[in-house]
Amino acid sequence: MNSNDTSLSRRRFIERLLTSAFVTVVAPALPTRALFAAVKPAAAPPPTNALRLPTAFTGGEIAARASSAFVWPDRATELRMLGGSYPGPTINVRRGEQFSATLRNDLDEPTNIHWHGLLAPANMDGHPMDTVEPGATHTYTYAVDQRAGTYWYHPHPDKRTGKQVFTGMAGFFIVRDDDEDALDLPSGAYEIPLLIQDRSARSDRAFDYTLTMPDRMSGKLGDTILANGTPDAAVDLEATLYRFRLLNGSNARVYKIAVSDGRPMHIIGTDGGLIDRPAAASSFFFGPGERVDLLLDLSNDASGTSIRLLAETFDGAIDATMQGWGADILRINVGARGPLRTLPVALPPLESIDPATALRTRRFTLKMVIPMPEDGMHTINDLVFDGMRIDETVTADTVEIWEFVNDSDEPHPVHLHGARFQILTRDGAPVDEPKDRGWKDTAIVWGRQTVRVAVLFGPHSGTYILHCHNLEHEDDGMMLNIAVVAPASGVDGADFPEGAVMNLE
Ligand code: C2O
Ligand code: CU
Ligand code: CU
Repeated sequence: MNSNDTSLSRRRFIERLLTSAFVTVVAPALPTRALFAAVKPAAAPPPTNALRLPTAFTGGEIAARASSAFVWPDRATELRMLGGSYPGPTINVRRGEQFSATLRNDLDEPTNIHWHGLLAPANMDGHPMDTVEPGATHTYTYAVDQRAGTYWYHPHPDKRTGKQVFTGMAGFFIVRDDDEDALDLPSGAYEIPLLIQDRSARSDRAFDYTLTMPDRMSGKLGDTILANGTPDAAVDLEATLYRFRLLNGSNARVYKIAVSDGRPMHIIGTDGGLIDRPAAASSFFFGPGERVDLLLDLSNDASGTSIRLLAETFDGAIDATMQGWGADILRINVGARGPLRTLPVALPPLESIDPATALRTRRFTLKMVIPMPEDGMHTINDLVFDGMRIDETVTADTVEIWEFVNDSDEPHPVHLHGARFQILTRDGAPVDEPKDRGWKDTAIVWGRQTVRVAVLFGPHSGTYILHCHNLEHEDDGMMLNIAVVAPASGVDGADFPEGAVMNLE
């Protein structure tokens, strides 16, 4: 499996000893050489930090503000935060409720908030051109009327999304409904939201967002995996069934998620809520922007058992500069026996989109331009994002087949606003991975692969976007404007009225 696992954690362990407060307190008298001699990494338990759990958003204002916090225990990190914390506070909404929050921009640059996976009206969706200036506020409010699920929010200003997310701005947006409540899934302390992000662990503990040429080509990759903003995260759990809501909030990294002892993860939901039945997976690929809801069964673990949720290495990646690199995400220490719970055998039925109802098929070709220009090296249908140009026009509440053709060697996690889709095929083969089932808003399109999806556009008309959720690709212009028109408007894509692009404040 993860052959570089041991040496990596060993290296990190020694680094930590040399830089942590522990050294100053416990071993100031030891010269470095003696310290090395005294340390037996193989026998010592790896150092961990208690998994942070995001606070709950209680309504009102969400400030965007630069601030610092102790991500690592030894030194504070400069961050940008939403709602005063990293990760941002978790928004909890019940289906049918009116959501409302006021963004106050205390940053020195424009920002906004996009509600990833929510079917918000276009003027509430955080379009990249629809930003809030420094010192200004903007109230986002809309009715949440969609399936229970794990959604999330993050800034989306054109060309600044990568930096703002990387430096700390993102949080969960969880929708609950009666259908899901009826299943009596693990909740409260037995339901754990887990935001997975890779960041830099350089000795100055900075979330440095300088982009090198490889970063601009492949996206910003970090050398440490944080769980809810916690490096070397560990959590003490009971011997029972847990629900984990996984969110890949990384700028660019795809993870191959697994458990250290190979036990199955029971996937019960994807981007848009529950799938049709629990599906056991020993691993799955998890792209930026995607969510997976899973049950992890610790019921039969003896007290003292310790397992790790981890990212397995794939594609032979040998270090953190590469896509496919793996490391631990979360150490789980099992303690006392918890409540007796069994896996649900069934989940509520899932309506599947009938591809025969599709009005038309559109093809989107994803490319990296060679030789590479300064900007706009990643394109969709040979186009670089222009905020004021409408690229496709579709009709609200209708179905289309969209085909994503990856004409590059890199994975592109494609994401669509204001709509949901179901994945039909990958390179012509029906989708079989549990993680690809159900309602999706983001899908990995692997290098040279073609992915066909059936899209159901949402109820609102206005300008939404399609983009790559590799945030460096997105900021580089791998994004198109999608105009959604009302069914009765009679507007055709070819003559969508110019200037009606969006309502800037
Ligand atoms: Cu998660 Cu357009 O974004
Ligand atoms: Cu989105
Ligand atoms: Cu991409």
